[in-house]
Amino acid sequence: MKAKIDHIGIAVADAGASLAFFREALGLEVDAPEEVPSQHVRVTFLPAGDASLELLEPTSEESAVARYLAKRGPGLHHVAFRVDDIRAALAQLKARGIRLIDEVPRPGAHGSLVAFIHPSSTHGVLVELTQADAAR
Ligand code: CO
Repeated sequence: MKAKIDHIGIAVADAGASLAFFREALGLEVDAPEEVPSQHVRVTFLPAGDASLELLEPTSEESAVARYLAKRGPGLHHVAFRVDDIRAALAQLKARGIRLIDEVPRPGAHGSLVAFIHPSSTHGVLVELTQADAAR
């Protein structure tokens, strides 16, 4: 496996207010927001070179991001790595005894497949794996 950084997820209570900083102060472009029903979030990607920022706004109290915001407030939420074959990557990690949050990938933004690895196995960093364009 040769993972590349795909995006950095940032939990925000109000994406509009955050954009004032990321778009206006840093000059980043902003993609159209997208709802990700499987995670009860609205995501907004801001491409920044080879990787993007992903602003995560909860759309329901059931969202893990809503719980995160309630507990810790806005801030760095996860680091996402792009892999070619997410199912093979999950199998490799599991074989190494790494604790997975998602043993089976679920639908992410832009038609991707995503799966999260538990922070107890990643030195405290919530890690997401993502496989782009899963439909192809
Ligand atoms: Co993400």
